[in-house]
Amino acid sequence: MFQKSAFQKHIDEKVEDNRRLVEADPHRLDYHLMPPAGLLNDPNGLIYHQGVYHVFFQWNPFETAHGKKAWGHYVSADLINWTLEPAALIPDAWYDKNGCYSGSAVMHDGRMHLFYTGNVKDEGDRRSTYQCLAVSEDGVDFEKKGPVLHLPDGYTPHFRDPKVWKEGDRWLMILGAQNMHGKGEAVLASSNDLTDWEFIGPIAGSGMNGLPDFGYMWECPDLFTLDSKDILIVCPQGLEAEGDDYPNLFQAGYFVGDFDSVTNTYMHGDFVELDRGFDFYAPQTFTDDDGRRILIGWMGMTDDQEQDQPTIRNNWIHALTIPRTLEMRDGVLVQQPVAELRQLRGKRKHYSQLALEKDVVFREVAAPSSEILLEFNRPVDGRFEMEIRNDLKISYMDGRFTVQRKTFDGASSEQRTFALDTLSGLQIFLDRSSVEIFINGGEAVATSRYFPAENDDAVEIRGHMHFDLSLWELEGSAIDMF
Ligand code: FRU
Repeated sequence: MFQKSAFQKHIDEKVEDNRRLVEADPHRLDYHLMPPAGLLNDPNGLIYHQGVYHVFFQWNPFETAHGKKAWGHYVSADLINWTLEPAALIPDAWYDKNGCYSGSAVMHDGRMHLFYTGNVKDEGDRRSTYQCLAVSEDGVDFEKKGPVLHLPDGYTPHFRDPKVWKEGDRWLMILGAQNMHGKGEAVLASSNDLTDWEFIGPIAGSGMNGLPDFGYMWECPDLFTLDSKDILIVCPQGLEAEGDDYPNLFQAGYFVGDFDSVTNTYMHGDFVELDRGFDFYAPQTFTDDDGRRILIGWMGMTDDQEQDQPTIRNNWIHALTIPRTLEMRDGVLVQQPVAELRQLRGKRKHYSQLALEKDVVFREVAAPSSEILLEFNRPVDGRFEMEIRNDLKISYMDGRFTVQRKTFDGASSEQRTFALDTLSGLQIFLDRSSVEIFINGGEAVATSRYFPAENDDAVEIRGHMHFDLSLWELEGSAIDMF
């Protein structure tokens, strides 16, 4: 107990020390979850219980680099206003001393159970991995129970990120793994009491179920039912870029399939990328009392450019995406911003039946935090081009949708592009240094960080088309972290 409070005190001091720096940072976001100091990555342990949404997250409070992760913890009654709680898990036990890595939360017998991966490295930098349990009566203070599942034969120590749920009268856990042949897999374990876990085996993976070679490791799996299909989200590492596909260092995507919980088998279709932007990884989902399936992702990526982000000067890096509801539409997983976000809408500018001709530019001012809704009166068949804050360009032409941004060093630009049959609407969430673009009601999404100059607030639209446009200034949400 003493050790834990000393660690928490150290975090509190670090956070307080950083307060002035982050409060003056123009890239600080208005309504996204960020760390008060240090590095944030994956959302963890997403759960709704007794009127409270819990969002835990991978957190290195002391540096803007990956390292020994703790679990940070935000709570909210409405998905809009958030309060930072004490760190829920800190890397202080022999089985997690180099990081309390990603995992999930379930309620059982009135207590919150967190499952996570204890990451351990020895002097020779050799890795061991333990799947661990921690339990809480009040959802704030967690008592570690230690490892509950050891590494099974046939796997390397790249074995992590337990996601637990109840299936009939047993508990199932899905994990990301690398087998001895260096292939990524999603594997299952089961338990009757959440304490004794039995390893079952892989249900999907590189080279399985008709998949070709598909990465050397799969991270952060999540398996759930949506509209009578079983969706498996995974984050494969090691896919080569192929045409427009897999342009980022690591990918986050899903399979649509059928999971048979008697034979523990999963038949599935092709892998589909969840997001077409630059910064989206390690998403996790959960359900709330309204039966909504809500997804939150990490709005970041562990790549070379990560360390060029300007916020590093102010000792913080990365954020989570806005919460998004999931539904199936014509076999496709559709993401939409949760309805609660409408509460952020402030001053609105609205134009109906705008008609643009070739070479005419429509110009407006968009506050650094804005929601922009464009509804095309008929699908765009020429060129559509939108420039935001002199940094981002979104365009659609000849059946291709493209997002372009300046590189973080400002020296050049880079783009992500993909095929899209028609463009009927765009809903864009701008925050001071992030953009989330929901295309055609969420059929495709592109999420990216970008770092515009402070005084650039212009939005320009060019093309040949008819559309309705609404632009809302978004109020910041209250995120109490100090
Ligand atoms: C994904 C990931 C997880 C791991 C965590 C460590 O971004 O690599 O597999 O548990 O981050 O922070």
